[in-house]
Amino acid sequence: MSRYIVRKANGLSGTVKISGSKNSALPIIAASILAEGETVLSNVPRLTDIENMCGIIRCLGGKCEWSGDKLFISFKKPKSYIVPYEIVTKFRASFLLLAPMLIRIGKVQIPLPGGCPIGARPVDLHLKGLSSLGAKFTQDHGFVEGKCRKLTGTKIYLDFPSVGATENIMIASVMAEGETIIENAATEPEISDLADFLNKMGGKIQGAGTDRIVIEGVKKLNSVRHKIIPDRIEAGTYLTAGVMCKSDITVENIIPEHIKPVIAKFSEMGIEIIENENSVRVIAPSKIRHTDIKTLPFPGFPTDMQSQFTALMSVAEGTSLIVETVFENRFLHIPELSRMGAKIKVDGRTAIVDGTKSLTGAKVKAGDLRGGASLVLAGLVAQGETEIDCIEHIERGYENFGEKLRSLGADIIKIQ
Ligand code: EPZ
Repeated sequence: MSRYIVRKANGLSGTVKISGSKNSALPIIAASILAEGETVLSNVPRLTDIENMCGIIRCLGGKCEWSGDKLFISFKKPKSYIVPYEIVTKFRASFLLLAPMLIRIGKVQIPLPGGCPIGARPVDLHLKGLSSLGAKFTQDHGFVEGKCRKLTGTKIYLDFPSVGATENIMIASVMAEGETIIENAATEPEISDLADFLNKMGGKIQGAGTDRIVIEGVKKLNSVRHKIIPDRIEAGTYLTAGVMCKSDITVENIIPEHIKPVIAKFSEMGIEIIENENSVRVIAPSKIRHTDIKTLPFPGFPTDMQSQFTALMSVAEGTSLIVETVFENRFLHIPELSRMGAKIKVDGRTAIVDGTKSLTGAKVKAGDLRGGASLVLAGLVAQGETEIDCIEHIERGYENFGEKLRSLGADIIKIQ
């Protein structure tokens, strides 16, 4: 197991370039198999989750090859319809292949992703949506087997604006016969990026980014070139690191609009924000005011920033209330932060954080991707040395995490 050793930073400074969005690249790579030619994706982050998605596509008979940050994908002749169990268990987003495989191959056998550290992660909305388009599913022995001869457009209401379910349904509808309307759809920027990609391929999708998406089915999709949008959560993570270290840092190659809820919270806390077209700079005061957080689907405060803000509130002035409404178990980082001296009480999906003057370094363990990142951030301000174990969780979602933090002046090294 690799681990990070982090020592208290004497402030951070400078600019960090943000990579492409993991959560946009994953559904777009999956959807690439709908085209026969060569899809060229740029600004793709080099992450284990991305490698895993490429690995599955190779198992199914496709090609995924890197050149720099460009990914070349072609899927001429499927050779399998079975997604390997051993990959799915450690990589839930593989479920995004459900719709592309149903369309391209006509059948799919994919393990139920099962839970993960942050919650049960059911896929009922995915299956319900695709079934209403005409797909037939059976579930047994932990696998979902799906078949479809033809998909027919229909009206689908999502009980919850699930990101993944919206993506699978949108992909399935793009080549269904007739019109599909998705009501109560997720509105995250990654949904819009996927719709832009599918429309470039020849799809007819309107309303992506709103809670009502209308898709007119088409017969064929062509392979295209596409640049992945920047990773708004990576950007929010580095900005939070800068604020925790009471520093002046800039993140660039981003779309400020995508981190509006995070910027709004920083402003509430008395932090100076300077926004430009593709960069955001934070200039933090020596005292950071607390604020309250309630995670919600976009454009609410993102659940993927909750752990980082819990660490930030641990060293803010005053008491903060953090409510996690999206996932049922996304406080794994809190017992670890408490070992570093954070004063946090948890009651169900609510955490009450009493800001403290300083934290102390300790041996801690990453339990999930964003929780792991929050422990690194805490290590930047804790007295002494912090050792974070199980950092493979973190490397799933942050490209060159240690290098980028060091470029801002952080004292962090990776030990194999
Ligand atoms: C995506 O996960 C992201 N992952 C997550 O990012 C992110 O936290 C989440 O959206 C919410 O924004 C990727 O895009 C690869 P959901 P997803 O379906 O699609 C319930 C990260 O850190 N639900 O919107 O799985 C579910 O249990 C990761 O980068 C159902 O009940 O999220 C959860 O409570 C973590 N039935 C809620 O919806 C379903 O069929 C949100 O899930 C599907 C979901």
